[in-house]
Amino acid sequence: MDGNGRWAKARGLPRTAGHTEGEENLASVVRAAVQRNVGWLTAFGFSTENWVRPRTEVRHILGLHEKLFGRVAELNELNVRIQWIGRPFGSPDARTPKYVQRAIRKAIADTAANTGMTLTIAFDYGSRAELARAAQQIIADGVPATIETLQQRLYLPDLPAVDVLVRTSGEMRISNFLLWQIHASKVYFTEKAWPDFDEHELDAALSLLQ
Ligand code: FPP
Repeated sequence: MDGNGRWAKARGLPRTAGHTEGEENLASVVRAAVQRNVGWLTAFGFSTENWVRPRTEVRHILGLHEKLFGRVAELNELNVRIQWIGRPFGSPDARTPKYVQRAIRKAIADTAANTGMTLTIAFDYGSRAELARAAQQIIADGVPATIETLQQRLYLPDLPAVDVLVRTSGEMRISNFLLWQIHASKVYFTEKAWPDFDEHELDAALSLLQ
């Protein structure tokens, strides 16, 4: 969901306003995805690399995650189950603050019975940390390293392989996102900043699957 900062700058607004718009747009894209019978949607909300951003910006993005995970009534209405992917709360390098942990836990519990789309939010997530941890667990468990044993030790072993990866705002790179899971993925690059990514863009991305 790249380009929130540039979207705001182009309108003479602070970067935080771009993130606020970005969170609102994610809610719209979730609705559009549900209408199109998308089974799994995963959004990169905050990476293991993003903590170096200015404190006020980080605090704002954390607040937006608390807000998003609080939209339980809306998710239930859409029959959407929410889950989270990131460094496990108990691990030594994890950085998710307690209040965001609480919002995540509550949203997961309160939408667990929904049977429609699964929305996965990546927060404090980095693919290389995920893979390093899986490798360490393979060593600790003393099992052979295979595709299956590694898959089983990912943060979310049941997250299916990605069909389409979307990168907004003209950035032609992947940035440590689901590197294992995108092995066979189509990639949709668009010049549009994330807040301008609408249902037409979603249709264009999904058309790569035909
Ligand atoms: C990248 O754009 C965006 C982020 C690091 C944060 C993404 C957050 C949101 C879309 C809002 C909240 C989302 C959730 C899931 C609650 P950028 O800031 O790097 O933009 P720039 O490249 O134009 O500076």
